[in-house]
Amino acid sequence: MAYHHQPVLVNEVLEYLNLKPNDNVIDCTLGGGGHAENILERTGPHGHLLALDRDPRALEAAGLRLKKFSKRVTLIQNSYKNLPLLLADPPESGLNKNKNYKKRFDLGFAGLLLDLGLSSAQVSAEDGRGFSFQSTEALDMRFGPDTALTAAEIVNQWSKEDLIKIFKEYGEEKFAKSIAENIILFRARKLLTATSDLVKIIEDSYPTSGRGHGQGRKIHPATKVFQALRIAVNDELRVLAGFLPQALEALAPGGRLVVISYHSLEDRIVKHFFNQEAKDCLCPKEIPVCVCGHQARLKILTKKPVTPSTEEISKNSRSRSAKLRAAEKV
Ligand SMILES: C[S@@+](CC[C@H](N)C(=O)[O-])C[C@H]1O[C@@H](n2cnc3c(N)ncnc32)[C@H](O)[C@@H]1O
Repeated sequence: MAYHHQPVLVNEVLEYLNLKPNDNVIDCTLGGGGHAENILERTGPHGHLLALDRDPRALEAAGLRLKKFSKRVTLIQNSYKNLPLLLADPPESGLNKNKNYKKRFDLGFAGLLLDLGLSSAQVSAEDGRGFSFQSTEALDMRFGPDTALTAAEIVNQWSKEDLIKIFKEYGEEKFAKSIAENIILFRARKLLTATSDLVKIIEDSYPTSGRGHGQGRKIHPATKVFQALRIAVNDELRVLAGFLPQALEALAPGGRLVVISYHSLEDRIVKHFFNQEAKDCLCPKEIPVCVCGHQARLKILTKKPVTPSTEEISKNSRSRSAKLRAAEKV
């Protein structure tokens, strides 16, 4: 199966990572390896890339793309949330069986990239895991085999209130209540297991004027609910919030952390973390003298998030919601 994904904000990622020859870098979300390839071109002749993805198919595709750099790359199929474990206790075999990376990386990394969300290949009709609402697939939506929950379990087993909550919070879906009610009615008759049935329920829950993809709508009515389910299945927001302090730990002083997000809640998590970690004291304003002892651990490099140019958006519409934030470890 071909794996297509056009990396987003490539020049900006390179600018903010500010890499030198021989720098070691972590790409936490390897995808098709587009960013990784650019990073490796900058970090020769000896810089090493530790690259993770939850999705075995992404690793396979990126492995082919990065073949010419294979001596300088360690590919691991795992969630980035397990990075501390992987650094402390390297598995017997990364996909390229490079066992020496622990020694190399003990001094910390020069850069760490998180390019969140999902790749175009995962959302394509060929993927088959239910990320796409444009073909009939099983409602799975797991990035990788390490996740137990599936989208089918959520729509068939979660309460109406919980469905409304995720459709509203993760999808910002206006018709969350009526979609959840119609899911409950459907599943009283039979299990909801196919993406096409869910798309039909969503379309039927929209007021007649809002249905369909045409009629002046920028996005398909199913977009937001599918996004909400994917975020819930993969626990994306909690994983991100829990990981950011660990990302900072993995960097050497002066190392750069670059995060691209595609969802306002993700961006809020990154912004909040950066703001907290850039401060010398986290005591409430009413306390005149610092008692928390917190010290700034990073310097923010992007006062506002960096977004793609209109030219990039016109070439790659999937980049339109991207927001990049970068910081340097002090
Ligand atoms: C937007 S794509 C990355 C594209 C990549 N930067 C490129 O240049 O091709 C996001 C990737 O993150 C992966 N991913 C999502 N959550 C993850 C996690 N917790 N740990 C590791 N990879 C994850 C997805 O499987 C997907 O391949």
